[in-house]
Amino acid sequence: MEKLKPLFNLDDLKAPVLSGNGLTGKDILSVGQFDKYTLDYIFTRAKEMQNMVEKVGGVDLLKGKVLACMFYEPSTRTSSSFIAAMERLGGSVIPITQGVQFSSVSKGETLADSIKVLEQYADVIVLRHPEIGSAQVAADSASVPVLNAGDGPGEHPTQALLDLFTIKEELGSLDGLTVSMVGDLRYGRTVHSLTKLLLKYNVKLRFVSPEILRLPLTVMNQVIDAGVDVRETHDVSDVIGNTDVLYVTRVQKERFTDLQQYEEVKDFYVITPEIMEKAKEKMVVMHPLPRVGEIDPAIDSDPRAAYFRQARNGMYIRMALLAGVLGRA
Ligand code: NCD
Repeated sequence: MEKLKPLFNLDDLKAPVLSGNGLTGKDILSVGQFDKYTLDYIFTRAKEMQNMVEKVGGVDLLKGKVLACMFYEPSTRTSSSFIAAMERLGGSVIPITQGVQFSSVSKGETLADSIKVLEQYADVIVLRHPEIGSAQVAADSASVPVLNAGDGPGEHPTQALLDLFTIKEELGSLDGLTVSMVGDLRYGRTVHSLTKLLLKYNVKLRFVSPEILRLPLTVMNQVIDAGVDVRETHDVSDVIGNTDVLYVTRVQKERFTDLQQYEEVKDFYVITPEIMEKAKEKMVVMHPLPRVGEIDPAIDSDPRAAYFRQARNGMYIRMALLAGVLGRA
């Protein structure tokens, strides 16, 4: 791979090096858009962002640029990490994150119209919406880049990037790892996006869920087509001893039409210190968060518990992406 020029000269942060790249002006809608070269590029940039933040907190790379952050579904991490990312790069934010009840959507405005108006004010739009395909609809209406921050049970590509980055940071490399995904594999969009990204690497995949929350066939067929070593089970103890990455997820209550069914599966898995005793010494527990009981807080102090470090990595990845799509990386 060609060596990248550093984005910042850390000794002279007033004069950051700027050059063009393949992300300029692009929408980020699905993990299908990324090849391994682009992934490496984003991770290298994210690492530079981390070094810069740790050293000086922020730079003026995106000064004069505005991000519209439009969230039709609740969010804490994704919205605040995008806002922090923009602000640490010197840009500013229109935060429509308090629920659309405060926006014109409550007056009946279409998504396409809201997007067409926001792009009059903003240089980039981040969208979270409850419907699959909504990010594509927004991107079709917008002339500025649209970043998908979750389209219902569809995809969550920026989360998958930060998940992959975290695995690399924690364990050094992706190839040869066994990744076990636990919980709501049916509705968990982070699982769908991360699974598709992992197919680009030499990994073994283990899917652990109750019957009704198995990975959707559309995603499973891609796994099978990719020819990776894959197994499904209902029981964490079948996989824990051989797992390098235990990716735990919340049961997505908001996607259930039958709440009785939710009640039946909501406490199916709890990762406890007893379960962790059977895990490898060198492995990580990840979770996109929020957790609602799937991970016992007693393991937060276990060095293998990587979920809060994972959340922090989200800011660095989103800094790299914003700089990239705005042509400043
Ligand atoms: C996830 C999401 O919104 O899909 N959260 C996040 O972005 N960190 C996971 C979840 O809500 O369970």
